[in-house]
Amino acid sequence: MPYDCRQTIRRQIHVPKGGRRTGAGRPLGSGRFGEPARSVRVPLSLLGEVSELLAAHNRSRADTAASRIAAVDPTPEQLVLPRPGRALVRGPIGALELLAQLHAAGVKARAVVLDPMYRNKNVPGRAAYLAETIPLITAASQVAPHIFIWGFPESVARLVDHWPSHLKLEGWLTWFFKNAPSRSKSWRPSQQTCLHLRRRDGKLYPEHFYSEKHRALAAANRLEFKMTPYSVFQEALLSGFIKRSEQTGFRYQKPESVIEPLLRMTTKPGDLVIDPTAGSGTTGAAAVRLGCAALLSDRSAAAIKLCRERLAAHLDSP
Ligand SMILES: C[S@@+](CC[C@H](N)C(=O)[O-])C[C@H]1O[C@@H](n2cnc3c(N)ncnc32)[C@H](O)[C@@H]1O
Repeated sequence: MPYDCRQTIRRQIHVPKGGRRTGAGRPLGSGRFGEPARSVRVPLSLLGEVSELLAAHNRSRADTAASRIAAVDPTPEQLVLPRPGRALVRGPIGALELLAQLHAAGVKARAVVLDPMYRNKNVPGRAAYLAETIPLITAASQVAPHIFIWGFPESVARLVDHWPSHLKLEGWLTWFFKNAPSRSKSWRPSQQTCLHLRRRDGKLYPEHFYSEKHRALAAANRLEFKMTPYSVFQEALLSGFIKRSEQTGFRYQKPESVIEPLLRMTTKPGDLVIDPTAGSGTTGAAAVRLGCAALLSDRSAAAIKLCRERLAAHLDSP
């Protein structure tokens, strides 16, 4: 739709001291580069979307993970952590609350895996999605330098330009599966996205993917091309006869083989991995196999029970 200056509204965003009006149709602010505009003209066709984004932005400023974290008891009684190669399941507890407790207790993990929600008829709009996920990402980044957040591409895409500035997008990862049943009359959904966000101090271990031969060449400084893993994982959905022994019956269970590369790239044996939206405990299963310590939680009591059953042979007690 062509931009029509008459079809505009003015929204108050921020009024800098000494702000002045500039020419019609331009953002109104001090007019100096780098200073915030105090109002902008928005075409009516975009008004709904812009209002939603502004609401999310204002909410996340007022209700940041940091302020929620400050409200948490800074000395939670006896915070026990799992041993290397073992898992510990806590909860039911909300992801944000768990991360806040860990931060308050000074826990340092290596990676946090977040897999909070899917696109279905219950998934909220852009503003609600950002209001839920940005505080989670922020809180996760206070306990670990590597954060992975899963979702359908059209949900996860909403995060672009919104995660905290101390995190860098290390990888836009795709899980591609061919065996999804589809009733779609258009493109068949066959992928999920995982964003790898990294703090500056987050170490990467691409060498964990090298073969013996490549490792020897790398040690001699003779490895011409870095043999790092692809950013697309092709793994079938767990259904029917596919990896039957791995299936727990949990509807949203991911194959361990799509979590494992995330951990191999970012951890070494003995490191602590956290999944506060654990579902059936896939992150835990992959982590203990790699010799990491896994701390899992979920807000659902049924998920907690399932995690405990699945990881029974590897459980530490809280
Ligand atoms: C998609 S499933 C996770 C699947 C998991 N990766 C697996 O492979 O089994 C999402 C889980 O996150 C939990 N969840 C969603 N939002 C949460 C929150 N804010 N706090 C705690 N748990 C949450 C849900 O209860 C659900 O069990």
